[in-house]
Amino acid sequence: MDQKCVICKSATYHEHDTLTSSLRKQFWQMTSMRMFIWGDWDLTDMESDEKIQLLACPRVQGEVMKTIIFHEHTTAYSPSNRYITLFLKKYIEKIESMPDYELDDELTEFYISLISTTNTTSFAPGMCYKTYVLDKEQYTRIVLQEEQTMVSQGTTGLQTWDASLRLADFFAEHPGIIRGQRVVELGAGCGLAGFTCAAMGASNVLSTDFNSDVLKLLESNRQTNTEYKDKVQVAELDWANLEECARISSNVDVIIGADVSYDPTIVPLLVAALETMLVSPQQVAYITAAVRSQETFELFLQLVDDTGVLGKSVMDLTEAKMSTLCLPNPVSDIRLILITRK
Ligand SMILES: C[S@@+](CC[C@H](N)C(=O)[O-])C[C@H]1O[C@@H](n2cnc3c(N)ncnc32)[C@H](O)[C@@H]1O
Repeated sequence: MDQKCVICKSATYHEHDTLTSSLRKQFWQMTSMRMFIWGDWDLTDMESDEKIQLLACPRVQGEVMKTIIFHEHTTAYSPSNRYITLFLKKYIEKIESMPDYELDDELTEFYISLISTTNTTSFAPGMCYKTYVLDKEQYTRIVLQEEQTMVSQGTTGLQTWDASLRLADFFAEHPGIIRGQRVVELGAGCGLAGFTCAAMGASNVLSTDFNSDVLKLLESNRQTNTEYKDKVQVAELDWANLEECARISSNVDVIIGADVSYDPTIVPLLVAALETMLVSPQQVAYITAAVRSQETFELFLQLVDDTGVLGKSVMDLTEAKMSTLCLPNPVSDIRLILITRK
């Protein structure tokens, strides 16, 4: 494995594999080209010149085609054609910036066939698959169908938000918190955080939302993730329905929610739901918030304090390195708020 590549003679096969694994993980997650790391995701010198040169090695180009573009998982759960085209365009630009480069024939032909059929200048609404890899070997995967636009059909729940990536990453890094626990996710959207809890050993997960289109997508995502589907249930839960919140709370150890405190008009409902569901000091809620408005974020914290019965602690996750999932540059500051009954 540590043998030097006979073609580029500068890197080992192991280094090639590490590089292609890193590209594959980001590609499957459809990490934006603006933030894409063309090197080893796990290293701090992610895009050193040496790593960039590796991209042009003909063996690496072949591996990118075989183990990313034509990987059987990519074929079954494809990112959008637009994304694949942009990925290959950027990759070709990287290769062409090297001295004495030679482009792989298969890569060139595939790219030409894609650009002739794909509009890359604008975002077309429509569903595509994103795959979130939770382990180094890339066997533990959550596959979610998602919308490509931020607001679709009048809801924000049809795509995965940064706060959800943060929360899922937190559980992937601290599986002990979730192992054997009964989890309910509030405002689950596509469901990443809840599915991650199921993958990390939660005993069961109730994935909830109140929007009917979101619930349909959530159920379809549950069906796709066959390995975890028996542990996950999808149910309608509106935070305004405190009776239902109270009914659910008796079977819950951990409450989770990502990007659910974004709107000052819904924050009071969310806090009331948390107050109703957190009935014992043994239960805990993990909520991640993208701080787009300091005022709205502070309103959320204030309303938690105002209950008089809930206690909270806040962690700043903005600069924390994401070890499992990819989120190189979050657009907003991200906080994790732990809430318990005093
Ligand atoms: C910004 S999205 C976040 C989705 C997902 N948690 C994520 O981070 O990717 C907010 C979600 O909260 C849900 N939501 C908003 N108000 C709600 C309410 N009163 N009861 C239940 N869910 C609600 C929306 O339907 C939407 O799916």
